[in-house]
Amino acid sequence: MVRPKIAGIGSFAPAKVLTNSDLEKIVDTSDEWIISRTGIKERRIASDDEDNSDMCVAAAQGAFKMAGMTPADIDLILAGTVTPDFRLPSLSCMIQKKLGAVNAASMDIVAACAGFIHGLSVAQAYVKAGMYKRVLVFGSEKLSSITNYEDRNTCVLFGDAAGAAIVTESDDDSGILATYLKSDGTLDNLLYIPDGGTHAPCSHTNGDKSHRTNTCIRMNGNEVFKHAVRFMGDAAARVVKEAGLTSDDIDLFVPHQANIRIIRATAARLKLPWEKVFLNIEKYGNTSAASVPLALDQAIQAGRVKKGDNIVTVAFGGGLTWGAALIRW
Ligand code: ACO
Repeated sequence: MVRPKIAGIGSFAPAKVLTNSDLEKIVDTSDEWIISRTGIKERRIASDDEDNSDMCVAAAQGAFKMAGMTPADIDLILAGTVTPDFRLPSLSCMIQKKLGAVNAASMDIVAACAGFIHGLSVAQAYVKAGMYKRVLVFGSEKLSSITNYEDRNTCVLFGDAAGAAIVTESDDDSGILATYLKSDGTLDNLLYIPDGGTHAPCSHTNGDKSHRTNTCIRMNGNEVFKHAVRFMGDAAARVVKEAGLTSDDIDLFVPHQANIRIIRATAARLKLPWEKVFLNIEKYGNTSAASVPLALDQAIQAGRVKKGDNIVTVAFGGGLTWGAALIRW
């Protein structure tokens, strides 16, 4: 049976750094509050002329290099994002154009912070079914474009970045052993953007100040926190079980970097020692769909992953949506 694997991975973060002390000058917050409540010290912010698709093209370079492929080899592009360059066309079409991936079909996946894991699962299914053979999956966000920098509840959390992975048929023991996806649309009001969809189109609300803030993320942080711990722990446990493994078999845990306290609680639920947890939240904050591929790529670059390692990765986000993947490297 065909077993899909990640043949190449890459990531990109913009050069501009926004530190906690920069934020102290914008909203009523403190470096101490942000570090102790979230684990974040700084985050990256894309410049005005740096589009999400530009970050994706930069992230893809590492994936092509590792996989030994070129854009013409790709037959499907999946982009997990809530911050496409345009509402139409899709981010994946913009990436296709900029990469010159002329042989690909393209589609976006909207699952907020869980967007990359959703893309990975879709790619796994297509490759397994033999319908597409080389799928380029992105998790990428320009969250700064939908962040209200007058709202201290959210603006301290988010950053911009992109990650890319190429999924193709495995020719050895490595592979995506299991994925799990889930959502609960009844929790829609915990994390959302009020305006800009067809429910409240921009054309109806343009011009006033409330319009500007209503096109930014709103979040009930406490409630999201509680659900995140439960859902991430459950999703991770499911992929471990489906792969026929136990917590002891996990070599590295690469969670969505949303909040260090959520990560600690999730690792504890899985009974994973802290040394097995990969963290980069301190330097990048919550980059939503980019979080998992950015962390996985950096873990590999840092030598934290060796051939044959079992990696569990897990994410949750607005929707609410959540999911996990067990990857044997
Ligand atoms: N600086 C200083 N004080 C703050 C700040 C800030 N940046 N933000 C909130 N506070 C205040 C609050 O106003 C509140 O004050 P009050 O007690 O006087 O009312 C106090 O700090 C405590 O606020 P809480 O919301 O209870 O703080 P909590 O410990 O829950 O931390 C946080 C807030 C960090 C947002 C946390 O709830 C969290 O991380 N939630 C999960 C968010 C998340 O991971 N979202 C991911 C999905 S994102 C996506 O899908 C795009």
